Amino acid sequence: MSVFDTIKNRRSIGKMTPEQPTYQQIERILEAATHAPNHHHVEPWKFIVLTGKAREQLGAVMAESLAARLETTTSEKAQAALNKERNKLLRSPVVIVVAAEQPDRPEVLEIENIEAVAAAVQNMLLTAEELGLACMWRTGSAAYDPHVKKWLGLTPHEHIVAFVYLGFPAISRVERIPTHFQKKTTWLGWEA
Ligand SMILES: Cc1cc2nc3c(=O)[nH]c(=O)nc-3n(C[C@H](O)[C@H](O)[C@H](O)COP(=O)(O)O)c2cc1C
Repeated sequence: MSVFDTIKNRRSIGKMTPEQPTYQQIERILEAATHAPNHHHVEPWKFIVLTGKAREQLGAVMAESLAARLETTTSEKAQAALNKERNKLLRSPVVIVVAAEQPDRPEVLEIENIEAVAAAVQNMLLTAEELGLACMWRTGSAAYDPHVKKWLGLTPHEHIVAFVYLGFPAISRVERIPTHFQKKTTWLGWEA
């Protein structure tokens, strides 16, 4: 399949079976990520692969962090939200946290590190598509929570760019019909 076809066919799939992708499949996805463009050759990505109990452990930290942000934790609504947060990572057998490092040189811009990591995430999604896996890029408030970052071994200044959910599809994909690119494009100096 051409890169163009893979790009067009890729769909985010939120519902996955419990079947775990192989170690080799995950390695291939991570390798693809490391081929993303990045300025000053800083390779600003970090990956944390969560499977099995690690998803439950981080889910507990996410729920604790959410509880600290809520005004009350005793209401039915709050309990439902906390329960949802605790179980979020169990929606797929593997979750890869993808983070952007903080620049350590003046010429390296924080936004460019984040952009490079976003490109790495897209490489991961496309590779998952090519491997026939289900994949979904998610964030949510946990991605910006300092306690979550700490548990993952990240500093507060590093950015969680994605929770990449990975598994095998449990639902069929629906067609994507994006806004036509001409509506988003200005052509300057182009002589057809
Ligand atoms: C930075 C970023 C964060 C996202 N976070 C979420 C999220 O937390 N939950 C969600 O349902 N979709 C999230 N999405 C959107 C999905 O990943 C997906 O792109 C969207 O549902 C469209 O589906 P498609 O990728 O098949 O076109 C996020 C996308 C990006 C780029």
